[in-house]
Amino acid sequence: MRKYIVAGNWKMNNDINESKALINELVAAVNSKTLTNTRVVVAPTFVNLVNVQELAKDSAVEVAAQNMHQAKSGAFTGEISAEMLTSIGLKSVILGHSERREYFGETDALLAEKVTTALANNLEVIFCFGEVLEDRKSENHFKVVASQIKNGIFHLDASAWSNIVLAYEPVWAIGTGETASPEQAQDMHAFIRGLVKEQYGNDVAENVSILYGGSVKPANAKEIFSKNDVDGGLIGGAALNASDFSAIIDATL
Ligand code: PGA
Repeated sequence: MRKYIVAGNWKMNNDINESKALINELVAAVNSKTLTNTRVVVAPTFVNLVNVQELAKDSAVEVAAQNMHQAKSGAFTGEISAEMLTSIGLKSVILGHSERREYFGETDALLAEKVTTALANNLEVIFCFGEVLEDRKSENHFKVVASQIKNGIFHLDASAWSNIVLAYEPVWAIGTGETASPEQAQDMHAFIRGLVKEQYGNDVAENVSILYGGSVKPANAKEIFSKNDVDGGLIGGAALNASDFSAIIDATL
């Protein structure tokens, strides 16, 4: 049975002191909840992973990386490998975020390689995709999302899917204050689950968590998460505030 997941992507925010303060507040908030079917994940910057992981270790808060390189090791100045992430005890990595695609030129083909490397190292992948505004205006959003998913992760065997989480993030809703309506999210999520079912069968499709991302806030989380095929959220801005993030977690309980 798939779980709700509320994942906070801290992006390039929070220095060491801010990161420690935020994780401490969040751990305290999460410790007071009963999470039966909800996972809570935060993704700080690389430089703060070890400290945040240490402060979260006795709690239900899991720590993930925001990105990684596809190669095992070598002359790739400034990059971080999957083995480095697992060596500090990490279990998950976000791949394919629209900011990586847009500002760092990450293509479907590159992401397919990153996904393969992550899974080979037993890292769970939170795989992000989503259309830009022009795609939606021209009614190409289903086509665009289908191709991102097929090209990025449909090379995997069915057995790999126990380590895949999907995150639908319409680019026009990220950091803009504009959210997809709960119906728009549900329509896309049902379409995505249908694609997975066509390729891998009912079991894989029913068990994969599909998160929605794009301006999720305490005020809209409950309605979005109440939709059948929405299994939680990938949260940017509102994840930087412990009480907002905590309220978004509550929307799954
Ligand atoms: P946002 O970001 O919640 O600030 O819109 C979402 C994301 O980029 O994952």
